[in-house]
Amino acid sequence: MPLNLGDTVPDFSCDSSVGQIHYYDYVGDEHWSILCSHPSDFTPVCSTELGTLAKLLPQFERRNCKVLALSCDNAESHRKWIKDIDASGYCGKTTSTVSYPILADEERALAVKFGMLDPEEKDEKGQPLTCRAVFIVDDHKKLRATILYPATTGRNFYEILRVVDSLQLTDEYPVATPANWERGEKVCVTPSTPDEVAQVVLGDFSVVKVPSGKKYLRLSKDPGYKTPKVLKRGMVETILGTEYGAKLLPTLGRLVVAFALGGFSSSFASSKKKEKPVHTTPQTSGWKKR
Ligand code: BEZ
Repeated sequence: MPLNLGDTVPDFSCDSSVGQIHYYDYVGDEHWSILCSHPSDFTPVCSTELGTLAKLLPQFERRNCKVLALSCDNAESHRKWIKDIDASGYCGKTTSTVSYPILADEERALAVKFGMLDPEEKDEKGQPLTCRAVFIVDDHKKLRATILYPATTGRNFYEILRVVDSLQLTDEYPVATPANWERGEKVCVTPSTPDEVAQVVLGDFSVVKVPSGKKYLRLSKDPGYKTPKVLKRGMVETILGTEYGAKLLPTLGRLVVAFALGGFSSSFASSKKKEKPVHTTPQTSGWKKR
């Protein structure tokens, strides 16, 4: 039976690149988990994906997510493959290795259980390969989102982070996130939320005027968002791991040089505007969806 959104993801045990994994024990009671399947070891797109996932691991950890990958080869093969991935440069500068487990689903037991097989892609023995599936599972082991791509299309892991942000925000507040939303951007008030409740829980919101005259497009600021005031330990690493981190590098470089030359304050003032904001745990919420 394929898993549907809202289903409890079943427990499983499986050998992996870091030894035997018991899924529920590994994730624990308080973490979300991201399970990504891959067609095969020693393949180009998969290598870029696993390296990228390693690079972004601190960002998943900040969102309280444990990461697991799955590929239909044995654990020894996974460990050899990891050496290639580490050397490929895709893990980035701050994360040098694939440290999360790669499940060894040699018999395709999990791939079948989770509905991950792609009938269009076969290995040299004619067996179907796993597609590029992503399962986003919350801290109650409920399946909250899935993404399914064919073997020939590598995934965008920033999109997976974005979906986690949306799910975690909408669990806490009566909001839904609009198209292409990213943290800090305006959110929609959910249709079932009365204006009075929205006002109390979210503060001021605006109603977009539309020809029908219906007041269903209500926008509020992102209630889980706070601009950071100081760079905390680990934040620079996290910022550099983001899509925009690379763009910040020249600014940070200038900052270091300016600091060394004694011109820290003016350089800091001009670079401060460009800091990538982060989510904070909501301080207050009179409303809890889950
Ligand atoms: C890859 O990971 O590069 C790949 C795997 C199977 C089919 C096509 C591409």
